[in-house]
Amino acid sequence: MSMVGTDSHLVTPGEAMEKLLANQVALVTGASSGIGYGVAKALADAGAAVVVNYHSHAEAAEQLVSEIETAGGAAFAVQADVSDPAQVEKMFAACRARFESVDIVVANSGLQKDSAFADMTLDDWQQVLATNLTGQFLTAQAAVKEFRRRGPRPASKALGKIICMSSVHEVIPWAGHVNYAASKGGVQMFMKSLAQEVAPERIRVNSIAPGAIRTPINKDAWDTDAALEKLLKLIPYRRVGESEDIGKAAVWLASDESDYVVGTTLFVDGGMTLYPGFDDNG
Ligand code: BGC
Repeated sequence: MSMVGTDSHLVTPGEAMEKLLANQVALVTGASSGIGYGVAKALADAGAAVVVNYHSHAEAAEQLVSEIETAGGAAFAVQADVSDPAQVEKMFAACRARFESVDIVVANSGLQKDSAFADMTLDDWQQVLATNLTGQFLTAQAAVKEFRRRGPRPASKALGKIICMSSVHEVIPWAGHVNYAASKGGVQMFMKSLAQEVAPERIRVNSIAPGAIRTPINKDAWDTDAALEKLLKLIPYRRVGESEDIGKAAVWLASDESDYVVGTTLFVDGGMTLYPGFDDNG
């Protein structure tokens, strides 16, 4: 048989073709735009069949499904509001109906409803907590139940993997965004406590904490030269992140390459959490 590769690690053509997430199914919530879109695409490129959850943008979700299919992958779109237990249940039932089960669950759905503290309505507080924190609770709970129901399978060493989409604001306070920062601070301890609880069953729970990623959620922060210049002062690496940066991190966290990584938040932020204000001060 002909071999490719060099040195001591020779790779057969068959091995070379096996993708990192082959024979696994991934569910990504909030995948019709932004970071979720990038993550779903990256997981599909790595060989996973992908369930593309969306809340209101069916067209964008279907567009992603057809991109994945055109590239030779498998995907389908499912509508669900992750803050509603019945809809989350239906979403997992759809995963089972189409792909038998799910191996990788990315609890990504999130939103911002920003305002000065004294003006923040109870509704804006509750909506952000409902999607960003309760949504992750409901999604992860359904995931754990599904992993247990289906039992181990050969495609991964873990029984299942959950990736919580957090933010640098799980540690960086954010004036004018107390609802959002509170939700992400909540995600931090939610993720760690859950990781501790289910690790003995070989369920790996981790978070990704993105910094400023170029997506619709923060368009105001990067779409003019003045805004961009101001934003870059907060990023030691001096570039705005792209959803591909988060996609690559998600692929690694979802794969057996990170099999010993449990209960960790992976910051993908160009150094935003390094207190850049201190680079010439203090
Ligand atoms: C927020 C973005 C913000 C970034 C860095 C993210 O979690 O959703 O709006 O640009 O954090 O501050």
